[in-house]
Amino acid sequence: MDLYEYQARDLFEKYEVPVLPGIIADTPEEARAAAEKIGGVVVVKAQVKTGGRGKAGGVKVAKNADEAYEAAKAILGLDIKGHIVKRVMVAAGAQIAEEYYFSVLLDRANRSYLSLCSVEGGMEIEQLAVEKPEALARVEVDPLAGITPEKALEIASAAGFDAELAPKVADVFVKLFDVYKGEDATLVEVNPLVRTESGDIIALDGKVSIDENAGFRHPEHAELEDKDAADPLEAKAKANDLNYVKLDGAVGIIGNGAGLVMSTLDVVAYAGEAHGGVKPANFLDIGGGASAAVMAAGLDVILGDPQVKSVFVNVFGGITACDAVANGIKGALDTLGDTASKPLVVRLDGNRVEEGRAILREYAHPLVTLAETMDEGADKAAELANA
Ligand SMILES: Nc1ncnc2c1ncn2[C@@H]1O[C@H](COP(=O)(O)OP(=O)(O)OP(=O)(O)O)[C@@H](O)[C@H]1O
Ligand SMILES: [Mg+2]
Repeated sequence: MDLYEYQARDLFEKYEVPVLPGIIADTPEEARAAAEKIGGVVVVKAQVKTGGRGKAGGVKVAKNADEAYEAAKAILGLDIKGHIVKRVMVAAGAQIAEEYYFSVLLDRANRSYLSLCSVEGGMEIEQLAVEKPEALARVEVDPLAGITPEKALEIASAAGFDAELAPKVADVFVKLFDVYKGEDATLVEVNPLVRTESGDIIALDGKVSIDENAGFRHPEHAELEDKDAADPLEAKAKANDLNYVKLDGAVGIIGNGAGLVMSTLDVVAYAGEAHGGVKPANFLDIGGGASAAVMAAGLDVILGDPQVKSVFVNVFGGITACDAVANGIKGALDTLGDTASKPLVVRLDGNRVEEGRAILREYAHPLVTLAETMDEGADKAAELANA
């Protein structure tokens, strides 16, 4: 889960990372009040979960409260790379002498953490990495040791900070790693980290991504969630503990096991080429225990997607045998009643497959078609979606 800048700022403050005062505002009037409260020059900043806000006109300096009102009026409602600005942060203005870059992130390929740092911050880091790779230091961080004061100095010196500045920024790096570790983040990025005219080091912008798998350790993270921005179908799936990802196509997919579901998406996309180019509508893994309740919840989510024209249920019976899955489908269709209105192609294989098929054959629901193989099922589902 990516956080908004103001949420990152609040977390930074909690870990004593130096930040400037910032107040969120949803209207120009609130922005004016916030600017009055902060006093002096402020910066009004669009709160959207995408980069490059400055270039898109989403960051404006305001010399007084009236200018903050005007800035907020101009920024609220802006479309920044498809994100509509609904909220701004009014932040105290800094007298910037220099801008730097710092991040620490999960380095999956190397099963480690990686810190990126540069004395040339401010500009987009992707651009710096391409145009001036030598200016971007990459320092591996041992996940068990973390960013110790020594490691922080190593990062600072690799990035090119001089002997006077290095200890000052290193102190901030250690605190930023406290945020990373303490919040179970997968990314903490500060661009720009600045040195002010008076010599202070301050995080002026923050990007934090939280690892949702660690959510059980952080009940307080639930508050950071952006409920209205989330896809309603994804929210419903999440509430039912289903692994669901909404896609663009017309064939709803339900399977058990991420690998099987992934290959089902491929097979359906391939089969769709012969049926007007229909594509999978989603990824949905109902996991090992495909009980009637889980199957009903999954079908309910998929049938709630107006783009879905047909559904392909592709289940390999293992510990949960095919007869239990068949009973699950039966129970789900009984539970859903008239809500279930789209054709279902069911392919069962594996443990107790004959018993499972017999249950569905006997049930003889008008919407259900049985398929012997995955290819046949994908083809039938694609054909029905294109009908
Ligand atoms: N509080 C502030 N005081 C003075 N200048 C600021 C302040 N906040 C931002 N700026 C200036 O605006 C620039 C852009 O701000 P910021 O980094 O927050 O947005 P951005 O980089 O455009 O957005 P993103 O980081 O999402 O790509 C900064 O590099 C800095 O020069
Ligand atoms: Mg930035």
